Amino acid sequence: MPHDSTVSTVATAPAATTAAAADPNLLLREHVREGLSRPFKALSSMYFYDDEGSRLFQQIMALPEYYPTRTEFALLTRHRAAIARALRPQNPAEPFFLLELGAGDGLKTKILLRELLENGADFTYVPVDISAAALAGLATSLQAELPGLRVEPVVADYADALGLMAARPGRKAVLFLGSNIGNFSPEERHQFLADLARPLTPNDRLLIGFDLQKDPRLIRAAYDDSQGVTAAFNFNLLHRLNRELGADFDLAHWQHYTDYNPLTGAVRSFLASTRAQTVHFAELGWSVDFRAWEMIHTENSFKFTQPGIEEIAQAAGLTTADFFTDEQDYFADVILRRAGH
Ligand code: AVJ
Repeated sequence: MPHDSTVSTVATAPAATTAAAADPNLLLREHVREGLSRPFKALSSMYFYDDEGSRLFQQIMALPEYYPTRTEFALLTRHRAAIARALRPQNPAEPFFLLELGAGDGLKTKILLRELLENGADFTYVPVDISAAALAGLATSLQAELPGLRVEPVVADYADALGLMAARPGRKAVLFLGSNIGNFSPEERHQFLADLARPLTPNDRLLIGFDLQKDPRLIRAAYDDSQGVTAAFNFNLLHRLNRELGADFDLAHWQHYTDYNPLTGAVRSFLASTRAQTVHFAELGWSVDFRAWEMIHTENSFKFTQPGIEEIAQAAGLTTADFFTDEQDYFADVILRRAGH
């Protein structure tokens, strides 16, 4: 059975999935009811990432317009030695955990993993992701490409991951790459960073990837590509509700819409109802009316400035230790530690 080891690795990971296992759709059901009852309807981008959504995001990362992934890849390649040094304990013999939130396919992380292994670092890699399929793929590819690596994958969302991190004794370096942080609203972001910072000891390190503000046309194009893959990614949320909640969204009457506000740095993605319509949710015994051109806000992808990042970090009790960028200053990988030490 060639896939046995991978499957069991994921299945025996710490039980962060117990609440969800009892009723996998409970959170989604409550979220949909709440989000679609608001005056300005909204759904969380967290629900993009079922297995199909994770696959679509893989396609997005390969798009010519979607610059963040290849930019951060180049950044990590360029600065891998300095970043690895900044993350690992000063004492080369001291073991540590390398946790990654939203690991996905781990393509960028492998640059750091390889660098750390080549320099004899003693660490366990703990990739956390909400897609079991994405994690299983990652575990398999790591086994083949970096056979010496200790890996403990965990299927969990960010909230569960924070608890899990706090429960791990010992030195930690936490990775949050890909500008995933851009998905939070400013309030959510502050809460998340404060929660992330709290369990850190003065020697722990945090690496956060921030997509930087740049030519607004470039940013807008990244979220409205010419092949329509980003639109399909957004639509997948409706497919998911049709599948999992017995909804009857008719995709012929929905449109993908994205805007970028260079004053706030917010890219916002919407699903627009192109006509007045009612959508039924069989699983909820519930229906929702949409006006013509009413929007469902489905995603934020904030873009940042260096002073803005410093401010955000400080407010959460963090200090910038290093600020790495690519050659064009499109993207930043920022090393943070707890403030006051
Ligand atoms: C995975 C959150 C970094 O916001 O750029 C890509 C997701 N959405 N295209 C982003 C996404 C539409 C992506 N992150």
